[in-house]
Amino acid sequence: MGYLDAQAGDGGRTAFRRAEKKYKLYKQSTTHKHSSCRSRMEIPVTDLSQVIDFERIRDGDGVTRLDHSDFPVYALEGHTGFFFIPRAVPHDQQFHWIREALTVFPEPPNRTSHSAHYGPLFGLWSSATKKGVLSPTGPENGDLFVRKWEFADPGEERKQEGVVSATALLRKLRWATLGVQFDWSKRAYDISIPYRSFPPALSELATKLASPAMNGDQFRAEAAIVNFFGPDDMLGGHIDDMEADWSKPIVSISLGCKAIFLLGGETRDDPPVAMFLRSGDCVLMAGPSRRCFHGVPRIFTGCKESDLPDFSALAMGEIKENVAILDYIQQSRININIRQVF
Ligand code: OGA
Ligand code: MN
Repeated sequence: MGYLDAQAGDGGRTAFRRAEKKYKLYKQSTTHKHSSCRSRMEIPVTDLSQVIDFERIRDGDGVTRLDHSDFPVYALEGHTGFFFIPRAVPHDQQFHWIREALTVFPEPPNRTSHSAHYGPLFGLWSSATKKGVLSPTGPENGDLFVRKWEFADPGEERKQEGVVSATALLRKLRWATLGVQFDWSKRAYDISIPYRSFPPALSELATKLASPAMNGDQFRAEAAIVNFFGPDDMLGGHIDDMEADWSKPIVSISLGCKAIFLLGGETRDDPPVAMFLRSGDCVLMAGPSRRCFHGVPRIFTGCKESDLPDFSALAMGEIKENVAILDYIQQSRININIRQVF
């Protein structure tokens, strides 16, 4: 939850941090700052042999397929309460949720990673597709937090100073929150912050997907964090501990480029297991697994390794917007992380 780019800060002393270092992306363009020849740094080749691939389960992966009537579900040995549902969201629905995540979910009153700086921003996606700009509409010397910012079409910006391109803001968007909003300063959910009720179709999907972890009960989707990952982003190891009832699962849906997910234990000293997450995959973390460190050290955005489904049929000959969505998702991953809060 908002731990994008976070580093554990223990310099590799814990097993979790060592796994993050093992799987993270090392940049190709880095050069030796102090070497006279400025030779290219050797790019370490990531050893992926220990990464569990739920599309190619091997003996010794410690994976069990469960009897569940609606869809295939896997459990992981030694991780009670963790469930993996491969390709839980069908192809065309994936594109629908990617579109929602980009065009609807970042709209106020939902907060985003830009809210603290700019206040409520309406129309980020539509402005980005028009190459628009964000400019201040408030008083010239106004305090940043009372100043209003609005998107304008290119060339129509009211002031040159402080103008930011919508495309840059979209690229920098790291998260948006759905349903009940979270107050980061109080580190708590706050129902007094204005919010829109949870999107009904997403709630229905979450309830269906959560069922393997609910023991016959019904999951209620009340809040979600939508994480946006670019090629260099990672989500540092963390535990989501702000919800009242930890027996209820977190329902985590992956969209877009493939990623590596690390599932550790209750301390960072427990060595995590690594697995691939692909577009449409769903992870459930309930019971004991709810208390475990987890994170995403790597996104694979290259077209050969992203394992992105072929959405091009949906974008071809279609509205321009679909083409822009396709462009975005080819370099990105979106995670919808759904919680029952109360
Ligand atoms: C989170 C989280 C995992 C993911 O948002 O808390 O753990 O797969 N996300 O992005
Ligand atoms: Mn989490």
